Amino acid sequence: MNDLYAVISALLASWFLWRWLGQTHLGHIPTIGTSVPVLSYIQSLQFFKRAGEFIQEGYNKHAYNGGVFKVAMPDQWLVVIAGPTMIEEMRRLPEDIASLLGGGDQSLATRHVVGTRVAEDPDRMAFVRARVGRNIPENFNMLQEELTTALSSVIGFPDGSLFPSRDQQLLSVFTQFARDYTISRRLIIMFPNILKPIVSRVFNRTHGSVRAAYTLLAPAIRERRQKAEECLKTGRVWHDKPNDMLMWAIERAVQEGRPDESVVPSLLFAEYSTVRVEAMNFTQALFRLSANPQYIASLREEVEEALAANNGRWNKTVVTMLSKMDSFLKESFRLSGVTHTSMWRQTQKPVTFSNGTTIPSGVFVAAAAAATHIDGNLYPNPHTFDPWRFVGCVGQNSLATTRPDFLPFGHGRHACPGRHFATYQMKLLLAYIVTKYDLAMDPRLEGKLPQSITFGTFIFPNPSVRVMMRRRVHYWTSRRWE
Ligand code: HEM
Repeated sequence: MNDLYAVISALLASWFLWRWLGQTHLGHIPTIGTSVPVLSYIQSLQFFKRAGEFIQEGYNKHAYNGGVFKVAMPDQWLVVIAGPTMIEEMRRLPEDIASLLGGGDQSLATRHVVGTRVAEDPDRMAFVRARVGRNIPENFNMLQEELTTALSSVIGFPDGSLFPSRDQQLLSVFTQFARDYTISRRLIIMFPNILKPIVSRVFNRTHGSVRAAYTLLAPAIRERRQKAEECLKTGRVWHDKPNDMLMWAIERAVQEGRPDESVVPSLLFAEYSTVRVEAMNFTQALFRLSANPQYIASLREEVEEALAANNGRWNKTVVTMLSKMDSFLKESFRLSGVTHTSMWRQTQKPVTFSNGTTIPSGVFVAAAAAATHIDGNLYPNPHTFDPWRFVGCVGQNSLATTRPDFLPFGHGRHACPGRHFATYQMKLLLAYIVTKYDLAMDPRLEGKLPQSITFGTFIFPNPSVRVMMRRRVHYWTSRRWE
C-alpha cells in the first residue's frame, strides 16, 4: 500500500512540475538550458546562483539575433529582451500592454509580502514621482544636514533622506523590515503563483516589523492626519507642513479615506525599493574607490574647483558641476550594478515585436541590463573600469540619463523618477567623503574588489567587507563644510 502511495505521489509531483515549468505557450522562444518539463524545473534551482551566467549566455547568442530568449526560474519563465533595438521597442510599450506594476510584483513578490493594495495601486509611488524631482533645491539643506550627521556618528548611508528621522529605534525597524522582506521574498519566489498565498501565510516575516513601525509612527501619523483633515475641512493653509514621504503618504490615506495603519506598508515598501537600492549602488561605488584610491585626488580637485567657482558655497550648482564624479559613479553603475535585469514588466496582452516574435499575455519580461553594460559593441574595452569614460558627456550621457545601453534606472515611460534626486544625493555624499576623508579598502582584500553576492537577478555588495576611512586633518583646519 505504501508503495502505491509513493507511486501516486511521484506521478502527481511530476504532473505538477510538468504543468509548472513544462512546455508552455513560450515554446517558440529560445531557451537557455533545457525546456524539457521537470528537467527545466531542476535547472531553475540553479537560477539563484547562476542567473547572471544564464542571462549572459542568452545575450551572447541572441542580442543581435532575435533579441529574445527565456530562462527558467523556480516560479515561472523569465523572458529576457536583449540588444538595443529590441530594448527600444520594449521602451515604447504602453502600461496596458507591458505593465511595470505587474513586473515589479513578479520581481519583488510585492502582493505576497506587503499586500495587494500596495502591489496593485498604480499611484502607490505617484507622490514620490510627483514630488521628489522638484524638491531638490528645497531639500539641499536637509540632505546636507542628514549626511553630516550620518557620517559624523557612524560612517553609513544617510538613510531617511526622504523621511528624515534620527530615531534609532525607527531606523532599525526600517532595516529589520528590509531584511525580513528579502528573506520572505526569497522563500515565496520558490513556489508557483498558485501556491504563493499559502506560502506567504507561513513564511512572510514582515508582519512584526510592520507592526513595530506602526507602534513607533502612530502618534506622528495621528497628529499629522488630524491637522491635515482639519485643513481639508476648513480650507486653512498649513504653513509649516512637513515635506517628507510620511506626510505625502498620510495625505494619500486622507484623500482615499484609509485607516492610519495603511500608511505604514506603503512607506516601508517605498523606502525598501528606493533608498536601499541607492545605498547598495553607493556601496559598490565606495568599494571601487577604496580599491582604487589613485582616483581620489582628481575627484577631490574637481570638488575644490567647483566650490571655488561658487564662492565656497555648497549648493546644487556645485553638485551639478561635478562631471568627473558623475562619470566615476556611472562607470561604477555600469560594471558593478545591483541587478542583472531591468525594466521588469508583465505582459497584459500578446505583444508582437517588429521581428515577428510574439510574447503572449501574462508573461514576466525584463531587459538584460548587466550584459548590455559589458557589450563590446556598445562600450569600447567593456571590462575595463575607466572612471573618466563619460567625462564631457554630461547631459546626453550622464548618470541620470537613461538609454538603451544604460539601464540601471530602467528606460522609457517608467524610468526611475527618483534618479535625479538619487544621483544628486550620491554625488553630494561622495563629494563630502572625498573632501573630508582618505579611503582604503579592507586590508584583507589586498586592494582587490570584493566579490558581490548574487541571489537570482539581484546583486548585493558584500556585507562583510569594510572600507577604511580616515579624517583628513588638514581639511578641518583649512576649510569648514558649510
Ligand atoms: C540608485 C538609486 C536607484 C536606482 C538604481 C533605481 C532604479 C529604478 C528602476 C530600475 C526602476 C524601474 C524602471 C523601469 O522599469 O523602467 C525604478 C522605478 C522607480 N523608482 Fe527608482 N531607483 C533608485 C532610486 C530611487 C529613489 C531615491 C526614488 C524616490 C525618491 C525612486 C523612485 C522610483 C519610483 C517611484 C519608480 C516607479 C516609476 C513608475 O511607477 O513609473 N527611485 N527605479
